[in-house]
Amino acid sequence: MTKPILLNAFEMLVPAHQSPGLWRHPADESHRYSDLSYWIELAQNLESGGFHGIFFADILGQYDVYAGSADEAVRGGVQYPMLDPTLIISALAAATKRIGFGVTASVTYEQPYLLARRFSTLDQVTQGRVAWNIVTSYQDSAARNLGLGEQIPHDERYDRAEEYMDVVYKLWEGSVEDGAVVADATANVFVDPTKVHNIGHEGRYFSVPGAALSAPTPQRTPFLFQAGASSRGQQFAADHAEAIFFSGPSPELTRKWVDGVRGQLVASGRSADSVKIFSMATIIAAETDEAAEQKLADYADYVDPDAALALFAGWTGVDLSTVDLDAPLEYAETEGNRSALASFTTMDPSRVWTARELARFVAIGGRGPVIVGSPATIVDELERWISVGDIDGFNLTSAVRPADLDAFVRLVSPELRRRGLLVDAEGGTFREAVLGKGPRLADDHRGAGFRVGATSVK
Ligand SMILES: Cc1cc2nc3c(=O)[nH]c(=O)nc-3n(C[C@H](O)[C@H](O)[C@H](O)COP(=O)(O)O)c2cc1C
Repeated sequence: MTKPILLNAFEMLVPAHQSPGLWRHPADESHRYSDLSYWIELAQNLESGGFHGIFFADILGQYDVYAGSADEAVRGGVQYPMLDPTLIISALAAATKRIGFGVTASVTYEQPYLLARRFSTLDQVTQGRVAWNIVTSYQDSAARNLGLGEQIPHDERYDRAEEYMDVVYKLWEGSVEDGAVVADATANVFVDPTKVHNIGHEGRYFSVPGAALSAPTPQRTPFLFQAGASSRGQQFAADHAEAIFFSGPSPELTRKWVDGVRGQLVASGRSADSVKIFSMATIIAAETDEAAEQKLADYADYVDPDAALALFAGWTGVDLSTVDLDAPLEYAETEGNRSALASFTTMDPSRVWTARELARFVAIGGRGPVIVGSPATIVDELERWISVGDIDGFNLTSAVRPADLDAFVRLVSPELRRRGLLVDAEGGTFREAVLGKGPRLADDHRGAGFRVGATSVK
């Protein structure tokens, strides 16, 4: 039997996240991206459908690479305008009981001392239901507006991120001991000063001498997601991630990547199954296969190819506005998101993509596979991905929002439950729900080496 499936919804506080043009579909509610009620309803519905998490993407600049301007992305509402996901998490937590919340934050642009306090706050107020998606970011527009002028080179972003992680592990794991907060009125001690330690960090990129601002929270270090897929990104994920997002075109090709990651985990001193792998997919479900195929055909009428090329250009730094739309695409080393470009060039050697095909493909769910059919057909395919790809779950995007996720909850979740493939989380922290172990970092995780009394840092 296939192992139980982990389910994450992949979202963003924007009108067009992964499916440019589909906001015009009559059933689409993406225009409500700025209504808190939209996100509360979605989180509650996903929780009822057994989803383990809702994961919010975030970027820090406009997509302005296509034709040398942001106009095309702005016109199409392509990840613009946007709101900051961290600020709605407590409201979603108050309206739900079990579902976890993944939040993206950039180590390239946020100071570690501030980020550590913000995530501790979220971990506290959600009772441990928060995860951090660690990104190094990929946009020149972000670099320009955040004072760097241009991006730090791709691999150096990861080198800097390594030191960043040392700082936040020191703050979360090693600065304030369990039991430091005593709140003893008789002794007139709120916090025991002997259990609060300055971290004394002085490195190449960061200087943080003092102690953490927050007391230990349910998970201490929030559950850690990562999605680096380049070779440098993969090494970073093997060292730090507890769950990895990947976007592969087929279970067979995903398997190659997964085998590489599991091998790297072992080389990094962790067990091969210490990290859960979520593969991206868009699910278009209906009562019958025919009805689902009709849905997809209907969606195709709303695709916006120019906006899709603006999204692709933003991801990769590659501007296809002047190329022959029917010429084969080639891989180029860029400072942007290398794996997004690889998805349409090197990842599947048997498939040659043109810009025209790419634009239509990207506009339905972005980079992952589109799985269409009745509940039985879809669950058969999800099981195939799990067993052939050796993945642990899915990060589900939508074409029409929130209708595709609603259809999943209504049609696919019951079929998964019927087959024993969906085990509802019992509550507790996000880490416990995904890894099935305790609320804190595993002892073989690098961050555990920063605990008070730890003998070595891995
Ligand atoms: C499912 C998924 C979600 C991602 N979400 C974000 C995001 O919200 N913000 C961001 O800056 N990068 C995001 N990324 C990009 C990755 O963090 C990373 O930058 C990207 O995979 C490129 O890394 P690489 O150059 O090592 O391949 C995401 C990637 C994947 C596969």
